[in-house]
Amino acid sequence: MGCRQLSMIVLFLWVFQFPDKTVVSSAVEEKGTVFVYGRAAVGTVDEDFICATLDWWPPQKCDYGTCAWDHASILNLDLNNTIFQNAIREFAPLKIRIGGTLQDLVIYETPDQKQPCLPFTQNTSLLFGYTQGCLPMRRWNQLNDFFSKTGAKVIFGLNALSGRSIQSNGEAVGAWDYTNAESFIRYIVQNNHTVDGWELGNELCGSGVGTRVAASQYATDTIALRNIVNRVYKDGSPMPLVIGPGGFFDAAWFTEYLNKAENSLNATTRHIYNLGPGKVLIMQKGITVLLMNLDNTTTVVANVELNNTYKLRHRKTSQKIARTSQMPWVSDGETQREEYHLTAKDGNLHSQTMLLNGHALQVNSIGDIPPLEPIHVNSTDPITIAPYSIVFVHMPNVVVPACA
Ligand SMILES: *[C@@H]1O[C@H](CO)[C@@H](O)[C@H](O)[C@H]1NC(C)=O
Ligand SMILES: *[C@@H]1O[C@H](CO)[C@@H](O)[C@H](O)[C@H]1NC(C)=O
Ligand SMILES: *[C@@H]1O[C@H](CO)[C@@H](O)[C@H](O)[C@H]1NC(C)=O
Ligand SMILES: *[C@@H]1O[C@H](CO)[C@@H](O)[C@H](O)[C@H]1NC(C)=O
Ligand SMILES: *[C@@H]1O[C@H](CO)[C@@H](O)[C@H](O)[C@H]1NC(C)=O
Ligand SMILES: *[C@@H]1O[C@H](CO)[C@@H](O)[C@H](O)[C@H]1NC(C)=O
Ligand SMILES: *[C@@H]1O[C@H](CO)[C@@H](O)[C@H](O)[C@H]1NC(C)=O
Repeated sequence: MGCRQLSMIVLFLWVFQFPDKTVVSSAVEEKGTVFVYGRAAVGTVDEDFICATLDWWPPQKCDYGTCAWDHASILNLDLNNTIFQNAIREFAPLKIRIGGTLQDLVIYETPDQKQPCLPFTQNTSLLFGYTQGCLPMRRWNQLNDFFSKTGAKVIFGLNALSGRSIQSNGEAVGAWDYTNAESFIRYIVQNNHTVDGWELGNELCGSGVGTRVAASQYATDTIALRNIVNRVYKDGSPMPLVIGPGGFFDAAWFTEYLNKAENSLNATTRHIYNLGPGKVLIMQKGITVLLMNLDNTTTVVANVELNNTYKLRHRKTSQKIARTSQMPWVSDGETQREEYHLTAKDGNLHSQTMLLNGHALQVNSIGDIPPLEPIHVNSTDPITIAPYSIVFVHMPNVVVPACA
């Protein structure tokens, strides 16, 4: 897939860190150069690539002495919170994945579900530390209203452990029992609710987390999910995606899985928790460079060099001037770039308030999300990255071959 010029913004990420630096004074300045290799794209993403996860953890879930989840779960989140609604609308369409560890212990309160619909209860001797929990249909209906009014796209992670038994070696064996999942999917379709994707399981691939499912079994179950989706959605209504396996990458496991699942899958998902280079696409022209300074005392002053062929779109005439250069990008004095400098209030990284270009990002009295305004900087000036800051630099006039 090629990138679309008019809707493209490439995001190059640099992280500055000086672990061995000896701090001789409280203010240090380093000069740096960011080279942008714009010839080939590393990857492309959809326009609606921005996503968030809503998890199932109950308030009792604590790690390292902190019970961070509070009422942030699918089951107890305050869906009437205006700020929350507005934040999701700002990203429209925001993809929301419903999932997490406990998704593989969830039952859905469908008419055929004979067990009582009870919440998760902590029991440390059980897999994942909890009993099975239930999603009441009353709650699902509220969630569906919430997603449709905020314009979110929903990827629902189904319980992929249903029907299996956990062996002493940690492997979950047996076929997926999809009865409850299928009736939940039917409920969704019969009520004209929209789910954009059905994802099978959470972190059960490869060596798994807590337990694992063999690749060939997972492929069989993915084909079963594909058949359910084909059956249930056969009379129109847009076909949702079938997605899997939603876990950590393991080359051998993924190879076998993808070969055996054949074309039953629309998308593969993998979980990555470490910070790494990102690439981004939103409705803007030009390129965006993301710079992060992880040092608390050093200010980095960086020049951007666009290596190899690039085009400079002339602001006034919209004429495209093709240049081949390995020289620093020299502006004709008429181009400006947009900079977004993000810092923590009072330099306190635990602060709940973030500053954008020195101004606190805060909602107003009726909960409106503030506009995110850049500062305009002469393109000939270097980029200053303050200690403990994140800077997005958008250069609207630069077109790199990878995105042309
Ligand atoms: C949320 O708002 C709806 C409709 O305005 C109301 O019926 C419901 O009780 C509210 N829920 C909570 C938890 O406040
Ligand atoms: C926790 O689960 C184990 C295993 O199923 C069971 O024996 C035990 O009674 C449970 N504990 C509580 C407090 O329910
Ligand atoms: C779903 O949509 C169909 C067609 O528009 C309609 O006939 C049906 O009554 C709707 N069902 C519900 C539960 O809203
Ligand atoms: C998802 O895969 C199915 C089966 O291969 C296919 O029919 C459908 O068109 C795919 N959906 C999209 C959006 O590509
Ligand atoms: C910077 O971080 C180091 C290590 O955490 C700390 O010792 C030092 O006091 C910090 N300096 C400033 C200016 O915050
Ligand atoms: C620019 O790219 C060319 C070809 O890829 C390479 O040989 C050259 O060293 C690069 N220049 C810089 C300054 O990195
Ligand atoms: C940008 O900086 C250059 C070099 O200092 C200067 O000649 C030019 O007038 C500046 N342009 C604007 C719009 O400030």
